[in-house]
Amino acid sequence: MHPMTKARPFDAGGAAHSGADLYFDFNGSTPVADAVLAAAAPFLAGSFANPSAAHSEGRRARAAIDASRRTIAAVLGADASEIYFTSGGTESNNWALMGSAPREGRAHFVVSAIEHKSVLATAQELERLGHAVTYVAPERTGAVTVAAIASALRPDTALVSVMCANNETGIVQPAAEIGALCRARGVRFHTDAVCAFGKIPVDVRALNCDLLSIAAHKVYAPKGLGILYVRSGVALRTYVHGCGQQDGRRGGTENPFAVVALARACELIQSGRAAAATQVEALRDELWRAIEARFPRCRRNGAGAALPNTLNVHFPGRLGADLQHALGERGISVAAGSAGAGAAPSHVLVAMGQGDDAGRESLRFSLGATTSRASIAAVIAALEEIQAALPVAQGTAPTSAQLAAPLHTERRS
Ligand SMILES: Cc1ncc(COP(=O)(O)O)c(C=O)c1O
Repeated sequence: MHPMTKARPFDAGGAAHSGADLYFDFNGSTPVADAVLAAAAPFLAGSFANPSAAHSEGRRARAAIDASRRTIAAVLGADASEIYFTSGGTESNNWALMGSAPREGRAHFVVSAIEHKSVLATAQELERLGHAVTYVAPERTGAVTVAAIASALRPDTALVSVMCANNETGIVQPAAEIGALCRARGVRFHTDAVCAFGKIPVDVRALNCDLLSIAAHKVYAPKGLGILYVRSGVALRTYVHGCGQQDGRRGGTENPFAVVALARACELIQSGRAAAATQVEALRDELWRAIEARFPRCRRNGAGAALPNTLNVHFPGRLGADLQHALGERGISVAAGSAGAGAAPSHVLVAMGQGDDAGRESLRFSLGATTSRASIAAVIAALEEIQAALPVAQGTAPTSAQLAAPLHTERRS
């Protein structure tokens, strides 16, 4: 059974009457699944007590949090004592890096250049504080190699951070191998599994990681809750100080509603992930085949093992932001690597060596529980309709041959 118990088309307007779900941004966020909401709802209004309170209502909330922590730990292959609740993937990533910096003296950090901004911006903050950071570029495929990480290590390296799978390209990273390298070299390893979790197996022991981040809103649970797995024995400095919650390691009142929701989402992932992944992968491949057939100049960004739901496509000569806007006018939600003509190109695609143009002229389609064949047909029809009308990207100097060759194979009347 898939995390979404029933299809719930969005009120997207446009082609929504076809019954197609026109939302293609499941890597951005997911809707809360019906079963998840049903499990968590009693903790939103009815059982609202503070889980740190000693009265019976408080103890009830505490029991729900403890049970949920065990469920979440089991799905990740962790012990319940190794699971910490945070405000989201961003905080988990900030904590993993900042908490690994020594209080005194300077250390060296290794992060891949394709990490989410919540890792990269934290790495920049560490540099500002006087620490050294090596940013490791991926191959053209979009994968970071173990050899590249190995050659970046120094005697004073405090932490390596490489994500499980990239959120823009979906390319799966050799996290387990990088973890094994770090373990052998006595270096702490953090992996951001925010985008991978729920789509491919994520097991903290198999990944050889010391720290791992996930976010509830990527797996059909609400926004505002993240997990940081902290391997037993790993000394991590407290990042959010408070009233001693979570063994004094992360302050702040826990959110029973969101925690119970994430536990239910984890159960759904465990019971249905393989079947759901196969289904969504078939739809993703169908989408790419259709794009490739109609627009032969388009190129898929990234190569090799990828998340089953993610497709990143370069539309030469068309700004991703323009395509995103035009699709949006037809009720279709997709992600563009950069926000507009003047905006910086996708740091992921640039790091992969695709160039600034590809970094601005690409779209990410990320499929999910409510994507159907009708959704794919709707997005292809919309792309055919709009592509000819769009201006050529500024800064792109198309050759006369390119201008003569339309993006699509046949012009619709
Ligand atoms: C790979 C990755 N890491 C971290 C985050 C940040 O998570 P959150 O939105 O919960 O702060 C995201 C969100 O898009 C992500 O895709």
